[in-house]
Amino acid sequence: MNEEQRLAGQAPTTKEKDYSQYFQSVYTPPSLKNAKKRGREEISYHDDFSIDEQFRGMGQGRTFYIRTYGCQMNEHDTEVIAGILVGLGYEPTETVDNADIVLLNTCAIRENAENKVFGELGHLKPLKLERPDMLIGVCGCMSQEESVVNKILKTYDQVDMVFGTHNIHRLPEILREAYLSKEMVVEVWSKEGDIIENLPRVRKGNIKGWVNIMYGCDKFCTYCIVPYTRGKERSRRPEDIIQEVRQLAAAGYQEITLLGQNVNAYGKDFEDGDYRLGDLMDDLRKIDIPRIRFTTSHPRDFDDHLIEVLAKGGNLVDHIHLPVQSGSSEILKIMSRKYTREHYLELVSKIKRAIPNVTLTTDIIVGFPNETDEQFEETISLYKEVGFDMAFTYIYSPREGTPAAKMQDNVPMQVKKERLQKLNKVVNDFSAEAMKPYQGKVVNVLVEGESKRNKDVLSGYTEKSKLVNFRAPASVIGKIVQVRVVEAKTWSLDGEYIGVQEEEKVMS
Ligand code: SAH
Ligand code: SF4
Ligand code: F3S
Repeated sequence: MNEEQRLAGQAPTTKEKDYSQYFQSVYTPPSLKNAKKRGREEISYHDDFSIDEQFRGMGQGRTFYIRTYGCQMNEHDTEVIAGILVGLGYEPTETVDNADIVLLNTCAIRENAENKVFGELGHLKPLKLERPDMLIGVCGCMSQEESVVNKILKTYDQVDMVFGTHNIHRLPEILREAYLSKEMVVEVWSKEGDIIENLPRVRKGNIKGWVNIMYGCDKFCTYCIVPYTRGKERSRRPEDIIQEVRQLAAAGYQEITLLGQNVNAYGKDFEDGDYRLGDLMDDLRKIDIPRIRFTTSHPRDFDDHLIEVLAKGGNLVDHIHLPVQSGSSEILKIMSRKYTREHYLELVSKIKRAIPNVTLTTDIIVGFPNETDEQFEETISLYKEVGFDMAFTYIYSPREGTPAAKMQDNVPMQVKKERLQKLNKVVNDFSAEAMKPYQGKVVNVLVEGESKRNKDVLSGYTEKSKLVNFRAPASVIGKIVQVRVVEAKTWSLDGEYIGVQEEEKVMS
């Protein structure tokens, strides 16, 4: 075996097998026209992922570091990437300084998310010059954008490989090519019809687990890049999801978050279309695991059956994240959210009737092109009417290739910033208000570990995702415990530890 082969993990040379077909850069820029044409062709499920013998030695004595940006979907993809790397023999390391592979798993949702990544690539350049043998890779949503890939090819020669969100399972081949090639390796598929089932994963922790239930998004909200970076909607088979949740329950996990960009569209792509999110939740409810949540749900597909099932409670938590984006029907229409203010409020009333104790949180965009003061005020009034416990709020960020990016915009940035501030003030006030009733009450907390701010304090979350800090022995980490709230703050609760949770239900 020569040095080249050792580096490439005993791979055959490219002469033995022609891999060039895999390395065509088949990325396309976001184009509504092309994306909307994407077919109804069958989803193919693959259960045969394995790491080929020829790659086994590749990571021997080498380390990797992955920096993750963006949503839970990306966090979970990182667990899969780590799973493949560990399968190849690499070991995780805590910093970039001594890592043999550094991967940036990127997010394209807003411009500042992308800027962070370009900044980080800049920081990595001296490291690469010092250690030319290290590999730097860019993956995740930014790699699905043609303009980003072109920018990297042109300006960031410290990058060794770029691979897309549909190419993660091809990491062993991509790495081998990166070791052998002097050029930057780019493998980004626009093809999106596959679901690879048995990918390895190294999960972050053993308390809370993420489970994908579907991939992609077909909603095409006019501001959003995700339908282009993640491809079309495709659902995992119920039996695969149920089996994964069962395995996590058996391994002692306490909480599962079901993931999808638009989980309410789950099952729409199945041939008979009969088995939907409500059915899945009804099946998962029977599994012996304390908490099950899902994110993110689009108001449009939130059907009555799902509400009925969620109302059964049990391990289905009574916290729903339901992004509204705007309180103005006119803006919602231009956003192509496919519901009106009235529809949203009706849905909220229905949910509140069925689940009286429900907690609702949301996402809001301010400063959408040409948003008027009145339209913005409608967002404020909707927020108050619903009484959300919390919201993620953003200033609209134009994303190249999306329909909204082509719209003329007469709202100055200063006005957008003021609107964000005004909205955030309301969000803070409502959060503080929602915390008050907890004062003196006992809550169930899933203990995740030491508090980030103070090592003597443990912290965890209630079913309704309220952060609770309290002192208790480290042995309760990973358990659900009872805590009496002594101080309700704006964003968190301070409490006194009582003991490990008993069967009886308390305020959560
Ligand atoms: N699929 C989820 C949203 C995922 S993106 C849903 O529809 O609920 C998370 C949030 O980012 C969105 O809810 C939206 O509020 C925000 N967002 C998406 N695109 C954005 C853009 N171009 N500018 C600003 N915020 C954006
Ligand atoms: Fe983006 Fe969510 Fe709309 Fe899909 S549903 S286009 S992910 S905002
Ligand atoms: Fe970002 Fe992609 Fe998630 S754009 S928010 S990482 S799906």
